[in-house]
Amino acid sequence: MAFFEREWINELLSKVDIADVISEYITVENKGGKLWACCPFHGEKTPSFWVQKDKQIYYCFGCHESGNVISFVMHMDNLTFPETVEKLAQKVNMPIPENTGNKNYKKDKERLNSIYEINKKTGLYFYCNLHDEKGKKAASYLKNRGLDEKTIKKFGLGYSHDEWTGLVDYLNKEGYDKKIAKDAGLCQVKNDRVYDAFRNRIMFPIFDIYSNVIGFGGRIMDDSVPKYLNTSDTFAFNKRKNVYGLNFVKGIKGLQSVVLVEGYMDVISLYSKGIINAVATLGTALTKEQAVLIKRFVPLVYIAYDGDKAGQKATLKAIDILDTVGLETRVIKFEEGLDPDDYIKKRGYEAFVRLAKSAYTSVSFKLNKLAEGYDLSNSTDKAKYIVECSKILKGLINPIEREQYIANLSKITGYSIQSIKDQIVSKDKVAIDGNNRYKVEEKKDDNLDISLLEMRMAEYFLNFPKKIGQYDFEKIARYLKNDVIKKLLLLIYSYSKKGILLTYAEILSELDEQDRTIVGGIISKTDKEKVKNIDIDHIFEEFERKSINDKIEELYKNYETSEEKDIVLAKISELKKELHKKKKKPNDGR
Ligand code: GTP
Ligand code: MN
Repeated sequence: MAFFEREWINELLSKVDIADVISEYITVENKGGKLWACCPFHGEKTPSFWVQKDKQIYYCFGCHESGNVISFVMHMDNLTFPETVEKLAQKVNMPIPENTGNKNYKKDKERLNSIYEINKKTGLYFYCNLHDEKGKKAASYLKNRGLDEKTIKKFGLGYSHDEWTGLVDYLNKEGYDKKIAKDAGLCQVKNDRVYDAFRNRIMFPIFDIYSNVIGFGGRIMDDSVPKYLNTSDTFAFNKRKNVYGLNFVKGIKGLQSVVLVEGYMDVISLYSKGIINAVATLGTALTKEQAVLIKRFVPLVYIAYDGDKAGQKATLKAIDILDTVGLETRVIKFEEGLDPDDYIKKRGYEAFVRLAKSAYTSVSFKLNKLAEGYDLSNSTDKAKYIVECSKILKGLINPIEREQYIANLSKITGYSIQSIKDQIVSKDKVAIDGNNRYKVEEKKDDNLDISLLEMRMAEYFLNFPKKIGQYDFEKIARYLKNDVIKKLLLLIYSYSKKGILLTYAEILSELDEQDRTIVGGIISKTDKEKVKNIDIDHIFEEFERKSINDKIEELYKNYETSEEKDIVLAKISELKKELHKKKKKPNDGR
């Protein structure tokens, strides 16, 4: 949102029709007045992607992707926000504002482009070095590592001469500004003298998803340290936000998955042996941003980290991160001491594919890892193991899948299937509150766990945004436990105070990707007719009662250990009286 005025974006949204735009990309069918398509963001054969012309949003019942026309085009064309907005504006002949909010927009863009350009030039220079007289040693190093010329060219591998100013002199001669070279991280300045940042290393250009060269990795050819030297973070290069190799992989027809590895060499070596869909992080642990980026292109990730302890530990972390962004995972496990590059060289393509086919699911990998920490011949350990396992299995939604793991655990531990099931259920018991209503156990960090009351309130104000201005936001926020709902209502509230009633599409464009899927889901599933019958005062009363109830429960919890039991009881009785006074009026037709 950084670059354009909100009002301008909203005008754009009012001029572009989501149904028209989406039908330019995918086949949309009209079924009984509703527009459906096969979701372009996950593989499916029957349509569960709903284009809502009246609300100007889309929602997929399969993968829960949701958004407005801007997010749709961003995903489909892999464009940035400003690029998408410009594209849509051109479509409806809307002039792009000169002053786009961020005064630096143009300057930033120029700065980025000049870094890309000098990097590209440098990449070509390194590539040529590899093929000249002074590059012989480097060329034979790559040959020894099994890479042929086709692969070297594909990845643009090169060599930085064993010189202090080889690149600096070259760029100088070609008319490039030293400032830009420094900006791109290609040289360093020491005592007023400028030196190459990389010397005597095999050079790996690092691309973003649009194939701009954003930085370099350089590998030393012997055992000295550091083994790899990467471009330090620059205006164009952020190692936590980019994924090595994704620019090549994203173009593969029918791409269904990527193989996630730790090193550049793994990506390249796998490619040269026929595994063409490998990608790597840039020397750091996998980040959420990288996972979101990968999710734009595939629904499934094979984690293929090194077979050592560090690699296995990193695998567990990666599973969790991929999980939170909704990517499915499998784990390819190599024997201790081998990385993907070593493995495929030693065992070949067929063996690698076989290993991938029998890859662990993320759950079975976790269960196996867990087992390593216990002595399963010892009954105390075994019991502890089952408790931990049930925490993992509890998270599984698919009952058939769950059943399979339970059967397997029963086989390993000797516990009956029923007792393992009991263990899992005891962990996700649904509590019943004083009024015999179900109350889902509150999970602090789970965004999707929205109580019915919060949901009703969100639905109500989404449909009657004007009404929210009558309340004090503090009062509303006090009742809300779910952060996404809180953010949503604050958004509606602050605009409503300014007299602006946001459309659904505008609301979605104000939210980040994660929140958008949740809010998009709520908007899509809300039935306008039913919302009309929500009595908002009644909702507030219920919240009030619930908060008193919570206080009572809290007091009961402390009762046993309390030194002043009388006082606690008195307080409880007082709260109960208060609760009784607030006993609900007869229900008015909801
Ligand atoms: P080879 O030893 O050439 O096969 O490379 P590798 O990919 O097997 O290297 P390794 O598994 O040791 O490291 C994986 C990734 O971590 C590399 O691709 C680099 O991105 C990063 N890395 C490794 N060593 C260093 C280092 O010394 N410094 C920095 N900054 N990054 C490193
Ligand atoms: Mn390696």
